[in-house]
Amino acid sequence: MHLKQQPIRVCLVGAGRAGRVHANSLTQHVPGGVLVALVDAVEATRAETGEMYGIDDSARFATLEAALTWGQFDAVVITTPTFTHRDLAVAAARAQKHVFLEKPMALNLAECDDIIDAAAENSVVLQIGFMRRFDPEFAAAYERIQAGEIGQPMIVKSLTHGPGLPPAWARDLSLSNGMLAEVNSHDWDCTRWLAGSNPQRVYVEIANFKGERHQITTPNFYDNQLTSIRFENGALGSISGVCPCEYGYDARVEIIGERGIMQIGDIRGQAVIVGTNRDQGYITPIYRTWPQRFAWGYIREMEHFIECIRTGNPTRAAGIDGRWAVAGVLAGTRSFLEERPVLLREVLYATAGS
Ligand SMILES: NC(=O)c1ccc[n+]([C@@H]2O[C@H](COP(=O)([O-])OP(=O)(O)OC[C@H]3O[C@@H](n4cnc5c(N)ncnc54)[C@H](O)[C@@H]3O)[C@@H](O)[C@H]2O)c1
Repeated sequence: MHLKQQPIRVCLVGAGRAGRVHANSLTQHVPGGVLVALVDAVEATRAETGEMYGIDDSARFATLEAALTWGQFDAVVITTPTFTHRDLAVAAARAQKHVFLEKPMALNLAECDDIIDAAAENSVVLQIGFMRRFDPEFAAAYERIQAGEIGQPMIVKSLTHGPGLPPAWARDLSLSNGMLAEVNSHDWDCTRWLAGSNPQRVYVEIANFKGERHQITTPNFYDNQLTSIRFENGALGSISGVCPCEYGYDARVEIIGERGIMQIGDIRGQAVIVGTNRDQGYITPIYRTWPQRFAWGYIREMEHFIECIRTGNPTRAAGIDGRWAVAGVLAGTRSFLEERPVLLREVLYATAGS
């Protein structure tokens, strides 16, 4: 007799912006997983997100600790601010819960190592929220690079420009590592993934155009950055970051290989263009938000997480990938603070996987 597999029961930890994107995937698009509980420190957020996704009042918790005492779930999806990631992920892994953890993985490499170790010691899946690896366009480009279509990548240029002022904690370097982490973690991961090599040296310039207008007084705040990277295999990379970006959400990559060029992504949010007024010319919408641009990436990364729990296969966005992105952020931050190029080995003091 064929027994139907029970869905993987998931507890969402952090029911804010990113949390709701994953709640949406689990309730509407990923039948292998089911959202059974949520944790949020703020009562109003618990109530609002709980109602939105039909989570019973008895399965809404103010702390992860309380949810773990209840315990009726197999995995957590952690979507809280960066400075909480280490403690939450380690506690969940120690309770034998599989862990999906949003980027940036943590604030520093020691925290990353604690999370990686806790997951390994308790044999649970640890997947980092690098949804671009699961976006159909990024994934296709990666496969075509692997197949050798453009030859060895020589230059990888990646940009993320995000609309909206980041939350207060994300503007504070001590709580978030700033925009290099909050906005550009995805580019740190993608440039390394697509170049097929770890970063070796980075140089970052920053600028602050809008901080005063938004009365942001946190030390070293910046809203624009440009990063240059040299990879261990000799390839070069660049990352541009802008946030807040007035014109919309923009995430594109260009890879120049020994035998060709590849471009991923389009500033246009639709292939449809409309012309009705000869003075205005064509009108074509651009992406406005990250949930819109990476809708499929978010769904497919959650499918993959559930699949890895079921099969025991390794995840395609592992703890070590999160750790390398954090290492890039730390080297980049040191670079602009000390106004010099920084070697990755200056920040890679821990040994795990480096
Ligand atoms: N992958 C992506 O594209 C993407 C996009 C946005 C945000 N993120 C990441 O998701 C995380 C959250 O960002 P956000 O924009 O959703 O933030 P947010 O402020 O909208 O939501 C965070 C939520 O966590 C709750 N919270 C804070 N500390 C908590 C704790 N200790 N226990 C339980 N709940 C707690 C807050 O009350 C809030 O509701 C960050 O790491 C961010 O970088 C990833």
